[in-house]
Amino acid sequence: MTTTPKRVLSGVQPSGKLHLGNYFGAIRQHIALQDEMQCFYFIADYHALTTLEEATRRRLDREKIKPADRAETLRENTRDVALDYLALGLDPNKAVFFRQSDVPEVTELAWIFSTVTNMGLLERAVSYKEKVEKGIDASVGLFFYPVLMAADILIYRSHLVPVGKDQVQHIEMTQDIAGKFNRTFGDIFPIPDFRLDKEAKVPGIDGQKMSKSYNNTIDIFAEGKPLQKTVMSIVTDSSPKEAPKDPDRCNVFALYSLFATEEEKAALATRYRAGGMYYSEAKQMLLEKINAYFGPFRERRKQLAANPDEVEAILQRGAQRARAEARQTMALVRQAVGMKAGYLV
Ligand code: ADP
Ligand code: TRP
Repeated sequence: MTTTPKRVLSGVQPSGKLHLGNYFGAIRQHIALQDEMQCFYFIADYHALTTLEEATRRRLDREKIKPADRAETLRENTRDVALDYLALGLDPNKAVFFRQSDVPEVTELAWIFSTVTNMGLLERAVSYKEKVEKGIDASVGLFFYPVLMAADILIYRSHLVPVGKDQVQHIEMTQDIAGKFNRTFGDIFPIPDFRLDKEAKVPGIDGQKMSKSYNNTIDIFAEGKPLQKTVMSIVTDSSPKEAPKDPDRCNVFALYSLFATEEEKAALATRYRAGGMYYSEAKQMLLEKINAYFGPFRERRKQLAANPDEVEAILQRGAQRARAEARQTMALVRQAVGMKAGYLV
């Protein structure tokens, strides 16, 4: 008897430069999983359209934006995510890696799902409310976002979705939608589960959660002087050199811990508690850790960036595999709801 291997799926929005929070909170786990299970990872460019205005403002940092700037932002951010993931070790021979919009069937499935999704379910979405509170335009797309996400997951009949805590509610909505569809039209979809990424909260340089919308990030591919400047600007308390310091309340220590071994952490904690150390010395140690860890990835990224055709070919190969899978699911879905299984050519 053959058992179907478990399928892992996750998406990442191309909405700006990826940072240490994204790496330790998501990317590292995604890449590790490619050796254990069949993985589908995609760049969620349809989703990124819902916040393209903000992404464009962040990228250009000016008031006046032309229509072409928005398209350029999406293109550039999509390219950046592709380069970042590939440079950080995503192996396209192991995982299927693609752009969401290269499988347009997913928007069709989202529509079909919308007809079995209650308004009330979407109205409870915390992420939607938070985004609107932050000033993002309350478009129908932003509200509909979780339905598209359910389609992303279910069109590949995925079992496991590694995500950060902020996305758990969306996976629960996906479970709801899958159950409702199965009860309404017949059993087509497995009910997926989420898997929480390990680092729940990487602090930013100001001590809040690191997030591109708080402007407090350390970008994965920052280097040289700009990186040094960012690390040196991490907020610490103003205790004098000789005062004992509390490692558990220090952002520098928390960030250093992401890279350090247990022994290195213990050694630095001891020095903190003893006093006699400037925070700038700890920052320098952190900077060295970042450079040692990401240095080799930077080189790989530069090579990839110099070969855009190679990157494009990888994404297209991934899309072909993903699309074949999506079409099989859509044939089942279309038939189940009473449409023709295949598309006219
Ligand atoms: P941002 O907050 O910068 O907009 P996203 O919401 O695009 O980041 O994050 C994508 C994923 O990266 C999240 O679902 C989460 O898994 C992870 N992530 C982002 N920021 C952090 C953080 N500070 N700590 C841990 N994980 C994070
Ligand atoms: N909403 C996710 C985020 O912002 C990205 C995403 C889109 C996703 N579709 C998905 C994640 C499907 C997991 C599964 O991080």
